[in-house]
Amino acid sequence: MKEAQIELTHVKKYFEITKGIIKQKKTYVKAVDDVTMTINKGEIVGLVGESGSGKTTLARVILNLTKPTGGTVIFDHVDLSKATKQEKKEFHTKVSVVFQDPASNLNPRETVQSSIMRPLVIHGVPKAEAREKAKETLDMVKMDQRYLNSYPHQLSGGQLQRIAIARALAMNPKIMILDEPTSALDVSVQAQILNLLLDLQEKFNLTYLVITHDLNVIRYISDKIAVMYLGRLVEFGPTEEVTQNPKHPYTQGLMAAAPILDPHLRGRKEYIMKGEPGSLVNLPEGCHFHPRCPFATDRCKTTAPGGYLLSDEHKVACHLCEQEAVGIDREVFPDSTK
Ligand SMILES: Nc1ncnc2c1ncn2[C@@H]1O[C@H](COP(=O)(O)OP(=O)(O)OP(=O)(O)O)[C@@H](O)[C@H]1O
Ligand SMILES: [Mg+2]
Repeated sequence: MKEAQIELTHVKKYFEITKGIIKQKKTYVKAVDDVTMTINKGEIVGLVGESGSGKTTLARVILNLTKPTGGTVIFDHVDLSKATKQEKKEFHTKVSVVFQDPASNLNPRETVQSSIMRPLVIHGVPKAEAREKAKETLDMVKMDQRYLNSYPHQLSGGQLQRIAIARALAMNPKIMILDEPTSALDVSVQAQILNLLLDLQEKFNLTYLVITHDLNVIRYISDKIAVMYLGRLVEFGPTEEVTQNPKHPYTQGLMAAAPILDPHLRGRKEYIMKGEPGSLVNLPEGCHFHPRCPFATDRCKTTAPGGYLLSDEHKVACHLCEQEAVGIDREVFPDSTK
């Protein structure tokens, strides 16, 4: 039986911006616009979407680094907006993050050992114990103990990323959010880091949310794929279903744009996506994707599509899928007209 670890319900994050010098007008960047999804315990969910589609913002909302404009984030059955101080503290020990740029994860003036120890000490772990933990986590990421006294500038990109992962692991997290964990690395090091992440996930039954542009990484590592377009979730489902039979025209376009390594996946129904991603400030009416969609109908231009269920776990927000849908998820897309 699958148990929910993170439940996002109608999560929104709008950034206020002012336009004009004399007559100042308030507008909003709708970076995350009504995202509802559940990540179950022990699952690896890959989050994809073009640059600026709101992936990092969504991760920041989940990490409680920024307050959502609307909606709820429930972590292990606790609503973060109503959590007590103690519950928030527990949350911060359960969730760890690894950012895209290995160097930005670490303080250049701190040794590897102090970098790994710092979050532990902040959370009240005695120094001697934290020092032991630093050694232990370095073992977990298969790095030699001699690196404990190294500074970030003395390490390669792959080593830095291993240290960042070690630092994230030191707190014994339940969930790791990895924002482009391998995009700054060359392909052979990428493979090592991905294999390491998979090993660790299996060993500690961790839950991962992996954000990446690289669909081959997602295919390799994740159980489920979530696809975002201009702040909205357009498709969410098991990796195999979504990659072999992408339903949303945006997902199909993304798949077509990526070089496919898996020969089984070549020759799917796909097309080359045209046009630029739209603006999060002047969002199109109806389906956000309709100006770029070769299959758009008049309905797509006026009505936001509902969450159509293609199977128990495969959801898609596209009117074209209405006929083959086995149901509708009103929780996901409440504006649905079906
Ligand atoms: N603090 C902020 N203030 C104003 N706008 C912001 C802020 N943070 C993010 N945005 C805007 O929100 C949108 C989504 O940004 P986000 O970083 O979440 O995208 P992303 O999908 O992670 O992109 P990338 O793949 O390039 O990392 C962008 O248009 C960005 O400019
Ligand atoms: Mg980002």
